[in-house]
Amino acid sequence: MAQNLIFSKRILLWYQKYRTQDLPWQLNKTMYKTWLSEIMLQQTQVKTVIFYYERFIARFPTIIQLAEAGLDEVLFLWSGLGYYARARNLHKTARIIVQDYCGNFPKDFNVLISFPGIGRSTAGAILSLTLDQRHPILDGNIKRILTRYYAVDYYLLGNKSKINNKLWLLSEQLLPDTGTGVFNQAMMDLGRLICTNTCPVCKDCPLQENCQAFLTHRVNQYPRKEPSKRLLKKTIWFLLLLLQRHKVKMIWLEKRLYQTIWGGLFCFPEFSSFNMLNVWLLNYNLNNDQYIDLSILRHKLSNVDLEIRPVLLSINKKINCKQDGIWYDLTDPPIIGLPRPISMILQRL
Ligand code: ADE
Repeated sequence: MAQNLIFSKRILLWYQKYRTQDLPWQLNKTMYKTWLSEIMLQQTQVKTVIFYYERFIARFPTIIQLAEAGLDEVLFLWSGLGYYARARNLHKTARIIVQDYCGNFPKDFNVLISFPGIGRSTAGAILSLTLDQRHPILDGNIKRILTRYYAVDYYLLGNKSKINNKLWLLSEQLLPDTGTGVFNQAMMDLGRLICTNTCPVCKDCPLQENCQAFLTHRVNQYPRKEPSKRLLKKTIWFLLLLLQRHKVKMIWLEKRLYQTIWGGLFCFPEFSSFNMLNVWLLNYNLNNDQYIDLSILRHKLSNVDLEIRPVLLSINKKINCKQDGIWYDLTDPPIIGLPRPISMILQRL
């Protein structure tokens, strides 16, 4: 039997035997559900996604409801998942599909990859997992399996795009003639459950016999890590302007620009130094000697270690802030997107 056929047979046998319970997006599959789950699963683990997926699909059971919603509500439901460009693109794409395709998800690969936030792998996943169209996928799980199985050597091959081209070719060559959807799902599950990044469970792997990394005792050397970018350390100051009047408790939040980190979400005014925070207060004629330092918070972004210093200042009347923002009512919170550190600070108040 040809090597590629042996590979896919082994994957499928393993999947038949060890397939776990269906995940929520695998029940009564539609392109909309697969698309949503694939976007959420980018850079996020299955166990985290389940809660967000179920809440999102309960609020937006169809793409039409998603397209009709405001971006603030979409970001509200995405708050805490991170990588918010995913939510902004999801919303943009929903509106395109509703406006230009009467809400029917296009079934053509080239159309799908023209939409915001849908690349080659996501388009392949949507079409193969839902409609069994024959397209390869190259997500992190599959990349890891292939690099180990074929001991794809980063240094020999040189740059990243060459490696990716090679991996795409391998992923395509391994596809069985039929049942692509099941095969792709089985590969991703094998990567997620067995061929894991750290501590892979090679003893339970159906590919062990021919896995080049396993046979040469070098599983932990694949995939070769890129030289790690140095994690930047950054301290920022948040100004919590708390308006307390009678029973009302409100706090000033600014809407972040779309192109920036946390774009479209709402944040306390942020400063890169305490001095700048003071200049801001002086500009609004606010008394800057009655603030309270709240406890420091640390938050990891993909390449930055943030140290957040929240400073609380109580005021008794609203000021006219120049930036686009809202007075966030703590007793009746509005439906808007909040980055995790912001909602954590708000909860403490
Ligand atoms: N990661 C990305 N897509 C996935 C899927 N469909 N199943 C499991 N893990 C995934």
